[in-house]
Amino acid sequence: MQERIIEEHKQGEALSLQDNSANTRKLYIESYGCQMNFSDSEIVASILAKEGFNTTQELAEADLVLVNTCSIREKAELTVRKRLEKFNAVKKINPHMKVGVLGCMAERLKSKFLEEEKIVDMVVGPDAYKDLPNLLQEIDEGRNAVNVILSKDETYGDVAPVRLNSNGVTAFVSITRGCDNMCTFCVVPFTRGRERSRDPQSIIDEINDLWQRGFKEITLLGQNVDSYLWYGGGLKKDFDKASEMQKATSVNFAKLLELCALAQPKMRIRFSTSNPQDMTLDVIETMAKFQNICNYIHLPVQSGSNRILKAMNRLHTREEYFTLIDNIRKIIPDCAISQDMISGFPTETEQDHQDTLSLMEYVKYDFGFMFAYSERPGTMAARKLEDNVPTAVKKRRLTEIIDLQRKHGLYRTQQHLGKTEEVLIEGTSKKSDAHWMGRNSQNTVVVFPKEDYQVGDFVMVHIKDCTSATLIGEAVGYSDNNVTD
Ligand code: SAH
Ligand code: F3S
Repeated sequence: MQERIIEEHKQGEALSLQDNSANTRKLYIESYGCQMNFSDSEIVASILAKEGFNTTQELAEADLVLVNTCSIREKAELTVRKRLEKFNAVKKINPHMKVGVLGCMAERLKSKFLEEEKIVDMVVGPDAYKDLPNLLQEIDEGRNAVNVILSKDETYGDVAPVRLNSNGVTAFVSITRGCDNMCTFCVVPFTRGRERSRDPQSIIDEINDLWQRGFKEITLLGQNVDSYLWYGGGLKKDFDKASEMQKATSVNFAKLLELCALAQPKMRIRFSTSNPQDMTLDVIETMAKFQNICNYIHLPVQSGSNRILKAMNRLHTREEYFTLIDNIRKIIPDCAISQDMISGFPTETEQDHQDTLSLMEYVKYDFGFMFAYSERPGTMAARKLEDNVPTAVKKRRLTEIIDLQRKHGLYRTQQHLGKTEEVLIEGTSKKSDAHWMGRNSQNTVVVFPKEDYQVGDFVMVHIKDCTSATLIGEAVGYSDNNVTD
């Protein structure tokens, strides 16, 4: 199954960048979880490069090992604990090696980490990375170090991320941090704090810089991008108190999209994640207006049952979601839509599950990311509701959801057969050295024979065959969008 939020093949990938010969210490950094974590690791590497660290992919030669962690489901946390056991074995051979835990697990467990996992020297929450130089000094002097303070305004807008293990073509640009939605199953509002938006000028500067360096596509990242709001700094919830001037010059997500699309008209613009309750028509209209904004929306719904949506504190109904889908299809007829779905939320009945399946029938999503409910300590659901759907039932429902999604995926890929579509080449196909892999505007993977095309080219590909997640074709020439030097 296509998995983009948590990219399985990237989980735990050790990131490295070009060496600075003046640097003497070695950093090994591993990331788990969502794109935001991978993006944050690029910020951490940038901060530590100034502290004398070069990155390495060899655990054994590292002076400092950092693991950027995820708390979204119990399994994600178990994976990290297993890795810490491995680090412990290496530390026995190399006692000088220091180990730090970053990200959501650091935030959730705080100093408890130091007691539970004896090998951890440093615990750093997602808003405290600028404090790393001080924290490192602490551990160099033999003390443990913890900073898990969440911030109201940290966006790292002023840190130029180093692009780790990049394909040189696509990059992530973070635009908001935190989340205020408080979905009852979700740990993110607790681990990543209040929602705040980054200065649009620093976003545009980063995009312009990426274009200069040859990148062709960016994805604007946030837990809930539709909620983006800049009025000179400050939390979204304080917008009411802003001055008239601040309100008049504020930038919402639709406006930000337009600014990005205009800044680099040949750069592909994507964004993730959208939230049904916050996505407004002006966002869809802006997408339709600019050819370089890709026709793809990741629009998690989690459940098709109104009763469960309410219990999840998703502030929309099934019917309102359908209206949004209808509007998207009306304004952008060839827009791809993907989902996140949770099976077995507390109290979910067979009828609720059938409502999920019938919602999927209505939308026929192009892709999906589907999970069995995992109770997270501290969330409203954990406090108020018993995790009462048996594991076997959760799993069976999840399988039914995944099977239906596979069927819809195939239905959607088949709609591309016979068409000629623009594809941006990202790299060699995983299955064949003779083929390129890229994506069309709808974010579907396309593979085709390499011929003389190169990574980073925009190519028109005639689609001849498909699976439920991949299109197979043949290039017929460059796209008008292709840039030649
Ligand atoms: N808005 C975020 C969502 C983060 S979590 C984003 O940018 O993608 C990603 C997905 O994980 C959620 O949409 C949800 O489907 C799933 N998820 C979150 N908490 C979960 C839990 N407790 N159990 C199972 N799945 C969960
Ligand atoms: Fe989590 Fe809901 Fe925010 S899923 S990240 S609380 S939109």
